[in-house]
Amino acid sequence: MKRSKTLTVMSVLLTTLVVLTAANPLPKRNLRVLPKDIPDATLDSIMKQFNKGLGVACNFCHVRIHEQTDSLNYASDKDPMKITARKMLRMTIEINRKNFWTDKSKKPHELNEVDCYTCHKGEAWIETGR
Ligand code: HEC
Ligand code: HEC
Repeated sequence: MKRSKTLTVMSVLLTTLVVLTAANPLPKRNLRVLPKDIPDATLDSIMKQFNKGLGVACNFCHVRIHEQTDSLNYASDKDPMKITARKMLRMTIEINRKNFWTDKSKKPHELNEVDCYTCHKGEAWIETGR
């Protein structure tokens, strides 16, 4: 009797867990530099900053879902340009964190004293002064 009661309690708990998990799926984000819980609006404005900084469109770094569509697979890492951009993003956040982090209420990825535009000036392919 005691055993079946325990089993009932356990199956109720399990069912609750399954229902809760289904109702609140974690967003499947493939973010390695930006925080995984970044609000959509913040992510969106950072991506628009990339476009402006490099003078490109979203497909400069993001591959299409398949040949016959213009829709992009944002989570995919297939485009090597995205990998380079990720390194650039990490570098830019570090520059801000090390040199311009005066407002501690902001997170380093929210500081943009230096951003892509600072160096790229609207050009994807930039030259050095050499
Ligand atoms: C210069 C390259 C570049 C451009 C241009 C760019 N992105 Fe991204 N995007 C990235 C990188 C790099 C990441 C991953 C960041 C990380 O790992 O933290 C990313 C991540 C994302 C994600 C999150 C995907 C996921 O894993 O869930 C979305 C959504 C996204 N970009 C949308 C856009 C949109 C919309 C545009 C155009 C307005 C755009 N991106 C333009 C480089 C770029
Ligand atoms: C401190 C200056 C600096 C900042 C800030 C910077 N970049 Fe760059 N980036 C460069 C330089 C220099 C190159 C060229 C390297 C080369 O030619 O080998 C480059 C190259 C790139 C490339 C490869 C294409 C190319 O031009 O060779 C991408 C993509 C890129 N940057 C994206 C970004 C993004 C996105 C940001 C903002 C998150 C950013 N960069 C911020 C200096 C910078």
